[in-house]
This record gives sequence, C-alpha cells and structure tokens, in this order.
Amino acid sequence: MAFKKDFAWGVATAAYQIEGGAHEADKGLNGWDVGSATPGRIFEGHSGDVGCDHYHKFKEDVALMQKMGIKAYRFSVNWARLIPMGTGKVSEDGKRFYTQLLTELRAAGIQPWMTLFHWDFPYVLYQRGGWLSPMSPAWFEEYARVCAELFGDYCDHFILINEPQVFLGEGHFQGKHAPFLKLSAGEVMRCAHNVLLACGKAEKIIRKTVSHPVYIGTAQAYWPALPAREEDYELAERETFGCHEDFGSVNYYTDPLIFGRYPAEFEAWQKRCGFTYAAKDMDIIQSKMDFYGANTYSGDYVTLKEGKAVRLTPPPTTPKTDMRWNVHPDAFYYGTKFLWDRYRLPLIYTENGVALAEWKDLNGEIKDYSRIDFIKRYLRALSRAVDDGVDVGGYFYWSLMDNFEWAEGFSKKFGLVHIDYETLERTPKESAYFYRKLIETNGEEIWK
Ligand code: NOJ
Repeated sequence: MAFKKDFAWGVATAAYQIEGGAHEADKGLNGWDVGSATPGRIFEGHSGDVGCDHYHKFKEDVALMQKMGIKAYRFSVNWARLIPMGTGKVSEDGKRFYTQLLTELRAAGIQPWMTLFHWDFPYVLYQRGGWLSPMSPAWFEEYARVCAELFGDYCDHFILINEPQVFLGEGHFQGKHAPFLKLSAGEVMRCAHNVLLACGKAEKIIRKTVSHPVYIGTAQAYWPALPAREEDYELAERETFGCHEDFGSVNYYTDPLIFGRYPAEFEAWQKRCGFTYAAKDMDIIQSKMDFYGANTYSGDYVTLKEGKAVRLTPPPTTPKTDMRWNVHPDAFYYGTKFLWDRYRLPLIYTENGVALAEWKDLNGEIKDYSRIDFIKRYLRALSRAVDDGVDVGGYFYWSLMDNFEWAEGFSKKFGLVHIDYETLERTPKESAYFYRKLIETNGEEIWK
C-alpha cells in the first residue's frame, strides 16, 4: 500500500470551536454565541467566547503546525466575523484576521482548505428566518462571493458546508445544537433544501469569481453501516444510504448535489411530510464537486435477521472513545468503498479523530498512545480501500488542538495539541510527534 505522493495530510478545526474573540471589533453574533448563553444547554455552562483564543494566537498555531509538518489545514470562516450583519458591509477586522491567517499559512507552506459554514449562522439572519427563509440561499451566495473575492488569491480548496446531518438533524430537528429548534420534519426538509440551494449557488459563484482552478466539496457526517459478515456487504451498503427519517444520511444531501435528484429512498417520506419543490431548483443545486469530503469517526455493524437489517450491539470488549463512540476502523474500509461505489469522486477524509479522557501527567506530558493506535487502525483500514482501487486524496485529523465540542463544552479532548484553558498554553501531545512522522513517511508509520 502507498498513499498518493501528493496526499493531503492535514488537521482540521472550526471557527466557533477555537477562535474565541466572540466580541472583538465589529464582529456580529451567531447562533452559538447567543444560544450557548442559555443555562443547561452546554456542559457546565461552557461557551466559545474565548475558546482556544486562536483569534489572538493564530500565528503561534500556524507555527505549531509547521513544526508538525502539517501539509494542509482545514479551518472555517466565521460568517458574522466577516460580515457582521450576515449580508452587506464587510468587517475590516474580519477581513484582516483571515487574510493574516492565510498569509501565515502561505509562509509556512501549509495549504489552506477553507470551510465556509461550520455551524455559526449569523444571528441577525436567524431572526430573519434562518435556513427556513427562502432568502437564505442568496445570503449564503453573497457570503461565498465575498470569501472568493477576498481570499481566492490565497486559497483554492473550498468546503461549502460542514455536516448538514448535524446542524439540521441536531440543530433544527432535535434541538440539541444551535439554533436549538425542534421543527417538524417537513420544515427541516425545507431548511435542507435551502442549504442545498445555497451550496449550488455558492459553488457556481466561487468558480466564477476566482480566476484560477478551485477544488470544491462539502464535509458530510458519514457514519456508515458495516457488514457483520462478508455476506452482509450489500445490506450494509443499502443501510448506509437508507432513509432513517432523521436527516442523518449523507445521500439526502449529496445525491441532489452530485446527481441532481433526491434519493428514491426518501421520496415516500418527503411525500408524507407534504414537502414539494420546484423542479428547476435542481439546476441550481446540482454542482460540480471536485471531491467527496467525509467526516467519519465510526460505524455500526449490521446483519440480516429474519429478513431485516439489524444493528448489532458491539461486544463489551470493543474500545470506546470518550464520546462513547465505538472504535470501528472498518468504517474506513467499507465506508470508503460504499462512497466510491456510489459517487466515484476522489475521497477526502475531512475529519477523523478520537476524544480521550486524558490530562497532562506529573511530568507535564500527554502520552496519548490510544490516539496513536486509533489513527493507525483507521489508516490501515483506509489503506486496504486504497489497495482495492479507491481514489483517496487526503486525511484531516480532527483536531489540531483540544477545543469546544459543542454541547459537550470543553469536556471532550480530540486534539493532537493539549490546551490549558486557564493559561491558553499549547502543549503537543505524544500523538503530535507521531503525526509528524506519519506525514514524513507519507503514511508508512502506521505499520510500525
Ligand atoms: C464533527 C464536527 O464537524 C466537529 O465540529 C466536531 O467537533 C467533531 N465532528 C467531533 O464531534
């Protein structure tokens, strides 16, 4: 096995989770700034107000990445930092911040992968209807144009949205994430449709605005079903793309974007919810996707019992992360193959990683061997998919550093770099040194 020569070895972060600087300059508020202030929503009342203070420490963070040999950095732009009212006037401070970050990255030889929307929806636009508003695709298009105009010279990789499964499913359906809504399924379908129109418009405007070739994709929350036995392969594939009526499937979003139609599996559900749309919308939604971005942490084993697909409870020996997610590296083998079978697009793992209950030891070190083991297991599984002929172009570890894990606050630690939230001191963990070697050897380190 060998990963491609130009494999994008990266790390990922997101604005609200690391930046802090929530009230700096003329920055506008977003749904998380406002929503996290309500008691009971976030673990121990944490918020991203200060986060990792990346807003002030970005130079130090880029220098750290350079030391780690990171080749690609996936980060997101905070929409309301750049355009405080969501539309209209651009903030000079927002422009300065992202331009300086991109300049530092360029000087460090790190390729930027810019996510436009990682869940921090401008609050004023939420008050005007949020993703339910028929105006939302146009708001997003304007924002994408501004990003392309301002940052297109520095950046050629764009990720339009992050995990619609989660910001729609958990944010608009289950009420656990901003904007903490519990809308009806039909209303969430409307939001999802607007998100898709937004992506379609953004994809087109970015290509039109930037004068050099750009690579555009999305980052989908992808939690595949896995075959418990080899003969369950097709069943697992069907289950992965099946309609579970929770907005959690990837194909609900990427079939329209890539093929220009909703998957047949979902049509009955849409009908039952009275959801309709204009056929011409699909001309806007269908887009050229240069890669398929997937965020994958685990998957569920399924098997056939009495003619039905059954999800299996894993045996108690199965390692679990601090998120209580099962360590199932097979997600990186079967899951990769399923995406390839369906979409035939170069695959980028835009996120993968592990939260561990860990702390700095008495010597001031973090010996996170389980994280190293996790990365090795997943990448070994991925290498099998590469051997089978799947085109895999990159891997972004989530996350560069410990950060604000949404409703879980700072309680979950995913980073290669430890953050002391009192002093904001950064300390590379053992895994950061491993990751450097991994990159130096273009992946060969996973076999040691
Ligand atoms: C998904 C999200 O994109 C990211 O924001 C989150 O922190 C990680 N996965 C871990 O849950």
